[in-house]
Parts: sequence; structure tokens; C-alpha cells
Amino acid sequence: MANIGVIGLGYWGPNLLRNIAANRRAERLVICDSDPGRLNKIGSRFPSCEKTLNCNDIFCDPDIDGVIIATTVSSHYPLAMEALKNGKHIFVEKPFAENTVKAEEMVEYAEKRKLVTMVGHTFLYSPPVLKIKQILESKELGDIRFITSSRVNLGLHQKDVSVIWDLAPHDFSMLFYWLGEEPNFVEAFGHDYVLKGIPDVAFINLGFPSGATANVQVAWLAPSKLRKTVIVGSRKMLIYDDTEPYEKIKIFDKGVDILEPESFGEYQLSYRTGDIVSPRLDSFEPLNAEMEEFLRCIETGSSPRTSGRSGMGVVRALETADLSLSKKLRNSF
Ligand SMILES: NC(=O)c1ccc[n+]([C@@H]2O[C@H](COP(=O)([O-])OP(=O)(O)OC[C@H]3O[C@@H](n4cnc5c(N)ncnc54)[C@H](O)[C@@H]3O)[C@@H](O)[C@H]2O)c1
Repeated sequence: MANIGVIGLGYWGPNLLRNIAANRRAERLVICDSDPGRLNKIGSRFPSCEKTLNCNDIFCDPDIDGVIIATTVSSHYPLAMEALKNGKHIFVEKPFAENTVKAEEMVEYAEKRKLVTMVGHTFLYSPPVLKIKQILESKELGDIRFITSSRVNLGLHQKDVSVIWDLAPHDFSMLFYWLGEEPNFVEAFGHDYVLKGIPDVAFINLGFPSGATANVQVAWLAPSKLRKTVIVGSRKMLIYDDTEPYEKIKIFDKGVDILEPESFGEYQLSYRTGDIVSPRLDSFEPLNAEMEEFLRCIETGSSPRTSGRSGMGVVRALETADLSLSKKLRNSF
């Protein structure tokens, strides 16, 4: 059993709160938002939670074991460090921190004191993403050649972060998890069409040590919601469409093979088109599994699938993409 503080009850925090409140491993819950309107509104939905406007009440409470931070990105680091300094385990929403230096400080401080750090890479607790990991590990697709991913819609323009920091953490966390590696090449191109200085569309290219390549498109400006990933392997190919109610994953037995040349200089390509299979998926709520993992790790001291260290890898790639994009914006427009 653990006592948990939840800081930030804006758009996303209440979703985490709903799931932690439903978990039997969580005993006492203290919720906090500096905005009294938000605190009272959400507090009235969870009457058994204690409420405070001041996050120091949570940090200084010796009975609190872990703190969930679902506030704006720039406040992740100061709040997380304060929690860690008071001996609390931390769950920090994505992106883990606003730059790699801060992320590293959080992770190293926690690791030295054996405190759990976890990042809210929610998709890594979702049934289709876990199924794809299994499929890739079974080598059914062969070696991974490339992955493309589109995450676009007419989204909420954020005032403090670009579309890269808002949406790409999802794709980056999935890519790095599936491939089991972090990129050694990241570059981005895009534009700030609506609010100057805050890019709202970006096309990001990534290269990985294994030789796999990836392209991630993120945008807050698109007529409809796309959440589509294509994974091309040396044996088979896969499409993951998260907007589909059923059959989110389809595996295509398609590919191109080079036939042995019969004479010097002659080669032939053989195109293969076989079955299309949609695997059965488990059914559970990702946020429920995510909160269960945080509580389990506090109890056992083990490292979560989405550790702070993995969050730092994603932050490093976001930072590189952002830098590459801002250089191009400065030079070309
Ligand atoms: N995992 C996901 O799929 C997902 C989805 C949406 C948002 N998020 C993440 O969740 C986080 C919050 O996003 P949001 O859209 O809910 O933001 P939001 O602006 O709607 O809410 C943030 C809340 O935090 C409160 N707050 C800020 N600083 C505070 C402090 N020092 N003490 C107490 N309260 C404080 C604000 O008053 C506000 O109510 C971000 O990191 C975002 O990237 C994750």
C-alpha cells in the first residue's frame, strides 16, 4: 500500500487520478492544484481525497511515498526535484523534462537514493503497442527496415511547447521501445504557421544503430485525426492504426525478394503478396496499467518499463529534433 500525491489537475491529471483512485494499492491520496477552481472542481468528484493548493504540503508530508506530476512541462523539473529531495518516488508526465541536462539530474539524483522515477509514456501500456513489441521480438517481420508514423489532427495549440514536445514523445517512446535502441541520428523540418516561434508541424527523420530508419510526422494542423504507424521488415510489414475501433494492427505478408541471377549482371525481383492477418488484442485501460506499474515499483523497488532513464532518452531526441528545426527556421524563413 502506498500514499500518493497528485499535482496538476488540468486536462490530463484527472485521468491519472481516476485510475490511481481505483487502485487498491493506493491508500491515502492528496491532490493539489494551484488553481482553486480546478482543485475544487476535481476535488468534488473525488471526495475521499485530501486537497491542497500548495504542493509543499505534499512534499513535506512524511507519509507520502510517491508523487504524480501532471503539470505544464516547464514545472516538471522543479517539482520533481523537490519531491525527490523529500525522499518521494516520482511519476512525471511526458515529456519527462524540458531538456536533457535537467532530465539527467533528476534520474541520477533518484538512482543514487534508490527512488523510482517513471515517465508518462502511456502508449507503452497499451495493448496494440505491447502486441507489436511481441511481434517484433518474435522476428515475424524479419529485420526492421523502416518505420513511418503520423500523429496529426486539428489539435490544441500549446503556448509553451512546440508540436514536437507535445506529440512526438508518444512516437519516440514507442519507436525506442519497439526497436530496443535509441537513435544516433535525428533531424527535423517544419514550420510555425499559426503562432510565430511555436512550430505546429514537423517532419522528423531518425536513424538507429541497427540500420533501421524512421520518419515521424506531427502536426496540430490537419483536417482529421491520424494515428498511423507503418513498420516495414525484411519478411513482412505491419500497419498500426490507433483510430480503428477494431483490427488496430494488420500484418501483411508482403515483400520483395531478389532472385539469384542466372547469368552475370542479370537480376530479378520477386514480389510477394500473401495473407493479411489482424492479431487478437488484450483489452485493458493503459492508464490503469500505468498507475499499477508505478505503485508496484514503489512497493518492490523495481524499475518501471517507462523509467525516468527512458524518459531522458526521449527528451534527448526531442531536444535534437527541436534544435535542428529551429536552425532551419532561422536560416530559411
Ligand atoms: N500521456 C498523455 O497521453 C498526455 C496527454 C495530455 C497531456 N499530457 C501531459 O500532462 C501534463 C499536463 O498537461 P495538461 O494538458 O493537463 O496541462 P493543463 O495546463 O491543462 O494542466 C496543468 C495543471 O497544473 C496546474 N499546475 C501548474 N503548476 C502547478 C504547481 N506548481 N502546483 C500545483 N498545480 C500546478 C495548473 O493550475 C493546471 O491546472 C503535460 O506534461 C502534458 O504533456 C500527457
